[in-house]
Amino acid sequence: MNSKQFELLSSSKVLVTGGAGFIGSNLCETLLDLNAEVVCLDNFATGKRENLSAIHDNSKFTLIEGDIRNLDACKRAVAGVDYVLHQAALGSVPRSINDPITSNEVNISGFLNMLVASRDAGVKRFVYAASSSTYGDSEALPKVEDKIGKPLSPYAITKYVNELYADIFHTTYGLDTIGLRYFNVFGRKQDPHGAYAAVIPKFVIQFMKHESPVINGDGTYSRDFTYIDNVIQMNLLALTTGNQEALNQVYNTAVGDRTNLKQLTQLLKKYLSEYDPEIANVEVEHGPNRAGDIPHSLASVDKAKELLGYEPQYKIEAGLKEAVEWYWENLLVNK
Ligand SMILES: NC(=O)c1ccc[n+]([C@@H]2O[C@H](COP(=O)([O-])OP(=O)(O)OC[C@H]3O[C@@H](n4cnc5c(N)ncnc54)[C@H](O)[C@@H]3O)[C@@H](O)[C@H]2O)c1
Repeated sequence: MNSKQFELLSSSKVLVTGGAGFIGSNLCETLLDLNAEVVCLDNFATGKRENLSAIHDNSKFTLIEGDIRNLDACKRAVAGVDYVLHQAALGSVPRSINDPITSNEVNISGFLNMLVASRDAGVKRFVYAASSSTYGDSEALPKVEDKIGKPLSPYAITKYVNELYADIFHTTYGLDTIGLRYFNVFGRKQDPHGAYAAVIPKFVIQFMKHESPVINGDGTYSRDFTYIDNVIQMNLLALTTGNQEALNQVYNTAVGDRTNLKQLTQLLKKYLSEYDPEIANVEVEHGPNRAGDIPHSLASVDKAKELLGYEPQYKIEAGLKEAVEWYWENLLVNK
């Protein structure tokens, strides 16, 4: 990782939308560590105040409570900002299936508001959270950026429309953008609670309570699980790259390895039973496959390596070990 390249952030002001969420709050912390000035725009729909507790009093940090569906709030947030890391959205495929209208309003209209506000404020670069769901029903593996299928959920449509809008804002208005197609991100501060929790934190908390996690399907479905620090690296590279050819593109943001659900639960049991040996005896259950799920997902990260200089630092095992340690230290009270 070229940390010298990141030094330019020390004299920059960066807006992180969705900065109270899992990925956004980790980005805010890293940017402050790099001495950047950070503005966070969030309406706390799924984000949490406790995610900001370590940085809330930092004099270089500003929290703006507001909604990206409100253009004025977006304009206020981008005022005087050099760069935008747009993370705010309603995640989760099932959430979008249950309520496609709200997902559309936040993820598409909110995204468009942020593009308009960024264009009008003259921001230098707009880096945004795209998604592996854009690969839709394409069965090709590994996934390469220019071969996508048909979207399989309202959420996937919203993330694909983001890419189309970002492209048009570059060609029409000259706004420089980079889209990062995140693949199943996990790590510290990811919410384990609620109906739409992601599989890793949800299973961690269930194992910690000695409850059986339920795998959707037979456990052979696989994903390119990506530790948060790899995602942070991609965001920093996207913000600071001097390679003009790298701009106005989308990149897989992943490791380039896949792990199936059976393997994942075995790894979680192994690492968690180092803290509580009884977890080794907790059995896993199986339920039906879930609507909108594809059997396998695996990214090629060649484009990110070539154009951005990306080098994933964490394979799944190292990431899971750190994530498990974090959940153990921070969520013991919930046991
Ligand atoms: N976690 C993953 O595996 C993954 C995978 C692909 C893409 N993504 C994308 O990455 C981004 C961050 O996801 P995350 O996992 O950190 O989720 P998260 O839910 O923890 O964070 C999203 C943040 O956006 C905020 N937000 C939602 N609606 C808003 C609105 N109308 N106005 C202002 N703020 C709003 C939430 O309060 C929250 O703080 C999202 O765009 C998501 O779609 C995540």
